[in-house]
Amino acid sequence: MENFTSCNPTTIHFGKGVLSNLGPTLNLFGNRVLLVSGQSSIKRSGLHGRILKYLNDSGLTVFEYDGICSNPLIEDVEAAAVVGRKNQVDMVLAVGGGSVVDSAKVIALTIPVSHPAWDFFAGKVTPNQGLPIIAVLTLAATGSEMNPYAVVSNREVKLKAAVSSPLSYPKHSFLDPELTLTVPQDYTAYGIADLIAHCMEAWFGAGDCPMSDKLILGIIKEAMEAGPPLLTDLQNYDLRARIMYAATLALNGITMQGKVSGDWGVHASGHILSLLYDVPHGASLTIVYPAWMRLFKDQAGDRIAKLGSGMSGKMLDADQAIDWIEDFFLSLDCPVKLRDLNVPNPSVDDIVEAMKIGKVNGMNMELAPEYYPKLVELYY
Ligand code: NZQ
Ligand code: ZN
Repeated sequence: MENFTSCNPTTIHFGKGVLSNLGPTLNLFGNRVLLVSGQSSIKRSGLHGRILKYLNDSGLTVFEYDGICSNPLIEDVEAAAVVGRKNQVDMVLAVGGGSVVDSAKVIALTIPVSHPAWDFFAGKVTPNQGLPIIAVLTLAATGSEMNPYAVVSNREVKLKAAVSSPLSYPKHSFLDPELTLTVPQDYTAYGIADLIAHCMEAWFGAGDCPMSDKLILGIIKEAMEAGPPLLTDLQNYDLRARIMYAATLALNGITMQGKVSGDWGVHASGHILSLLYDVPHGASLTIVYPAWMRLFKDQAGDRIAKLGSGMSGKMLDADQAIDWIEDFFLSLDCPVKLRDLNVPNPSVDDIVEAMKIGKVNGMNMELAPEYYPKLVELYY
């Protein structure tokens, strides 16, 4: 087991009705709020109106930037930062899924500075100041609500990249499972797949920590138990709550404590599909994971077999484990090949080229560029 230092500073407010505490919580950070949201879901559900009422009742002045898209874009981050800077906001409030929360994190870092937001991703500048971020989560998937990561696409330089700073942990995150009742079946499934994939990335990381293995399998099993029934009962509060809690735990740091790192090669590969073809994040992972395990079967056969056996409750070898996990993704109605999605004319060459630009690699299992075509062929 490795040494580790651990601090997760995000306060989580979990459960029915927690939003009634939103206004007083924002009051702790000032008076002027930049409310950041997605394309339309919070307006359709009525959440937008409720949030505005809570904020107005607490005497807060609200400025807005909406229209953040799934697989968010750097130009929206820049435009939102201009709104925040012009209006001298004290904090950024994200209301939405991971794309909105991630964007809000970068907006909060960008408002106080005069250089482009992308400089953080390009590694030109290390963030050293940032406005407080508060999140109201509406989709269970990424864990962004309790971690420091933000993933944003820049089509001009052909990268979907991540930035991470201790300044980017949300100060408070409000997790009311009722807010996820309107998430459609496909994105509910992608969220379940994403949280399982976060556990798998930790599983295949460097270093050995038996406690971590047990936590990882525990979270995956919770998702396997609550996920499939949720997909046929989308209005079930208890199942929504179980998935929401599991998703937060899957990427808030605990699964990687005592290890050197996670792997994250599958995420890096999946980001290429999102960048080129706007593939939803969770779907990109169910497409890449079986192929990645087939590619690394010789090096990671024991870990693959142990994972599949743990998930299925049966003794499986590596081949059987990969087939079993692939079938499980299919049972969630998630794609396991690129052709399962309606992507017009995907190109192996374009994917490989983008992987080269993105220097796609794992932190434990080395995904050398000569393996890129093989990986793509395995999931094409
Ligand atoms: O834009 P709106 O209209 O809000 O619609 C969204 C979007 O179309 C919709 N939605 C969200 N909440 C809803 C809802 N629809 C109905 N009812 C609700 N309550 O769902 C769609 C997907 O939303 P999005 O935020 O894109 O999904 P998700 O939460 O899966 O976030 C994906 C993004 O997070 C990044 C991914 O790469 C991707 O860009 N990730 C962030 C991570 C992190 N910060 O730690 C880690 C992850 O591995 C991931 O990379
Ligand atoms: Zn993910």
